[in-house]
Amino acid sequence: MKKWFAVIGDPIAQSKSPEMHTSWYENDGIDAAFIPIQVKKEELEKAVDSLKLLGVSGFCVTIPHKQSIIQYLDEIDETARLMGAVNTVVRLQNGKLKGYNTDGDGFVRSLEEVIGEEHRDQSVLIIGAGGAARGIAFALKNQGYENITVSNRTVSKAHDLVDALGIGKAISNDEASETLNQYKILIQTTSAGMIYGDTDLPFSIDDMSTEAIAADIVYNPLMTPFLQHASNIGATIVTGIGMFVHQGAIAYEHWLGHYPNTKAMIEKLTENVK
Ligand code: ATR
Repeated sequence: MKKWFAVIGDPIAQSKSPEMHTSWYENDGIDAAFIPIQVKKEELEKAVDSLKLLGVSGFCVTIPHKQSIIQYLDEIDETARLMGAVNTVVRLQNGKLKGYNTDGDGFVRSLEEVIGEEHRDQSVLIIGAGGAARGIAFALKNQGYENITVSNRTVSKAHDLVDALGIGKAISNDEASETLNQYKILIQTTSAGMIYGDTDLPFSIDDMSTEAIAADIVYNPLMTPFLQHASNIGATIVTGIGMFVHQGAIAYEHWLGHYPNTKAMIEKLTENVK
């Protein structure tokens, strides 16, 4: 039987997942379809039951369902449970639906594709303490990054994050701004800078080191104000495209058993959003 996959969210029209996965099926000779489905918040439970009934092989979950979907799944992977968020659902042999979170690992693969593994002992600053920051912090910790600091507008949330994961320390955005040049790897996880022409950043980044490695999780625009500044001063940049592609590739591997070609996909999508 032909396999079919989906991505559910609201809005969904902007999602690049269908294009990405369909292109991988073509490259890998897999007979499958990938469908974007708009699911309103109040219809999530019905949608999950319907997907299950109709025999979906797996699906991606995006805003605003990443947290709320947990209650409707049969099993949750340990990492996703700790994150409190699911972005990938796999239909198991017995028909049950299991939730995973591939965002954090996707980020680390994207980062290390650019900078290698030799910076794991360097100081890392994660800006933001939301769901994305939590996944990234956990994945970095698991890969052996030892020196992680989390800054957030609401400092109590940064404290909650470092306490929950048992990592590094929490600071305010003001403190981060003042000590910015002490960090080698800077990871921007807030939604600031997502909108074209929006130059609002969580705080001043004038003191960024020229030796820094600056990564953003936002990929539209590709060059966020944060990355633009980093690029202007000659720092290394890691765009959000890599994280998007690798989180999808890890999902693909869960569903189909092998890792797709991420390099060509990153190049293609980078060209498209430029
Ligand atoms: P996600 O799951 O995508 O990480 P989230 O959980 O809503 O989204 O988290 C958003 C993050 O962006 C938070 O760290 C938030 O800071 P607060 O916890 O103080 O709300 C941060 N954020 C969003 N807009 C911001 C802004 N204009 N300035 C500073 N931080 C901002």
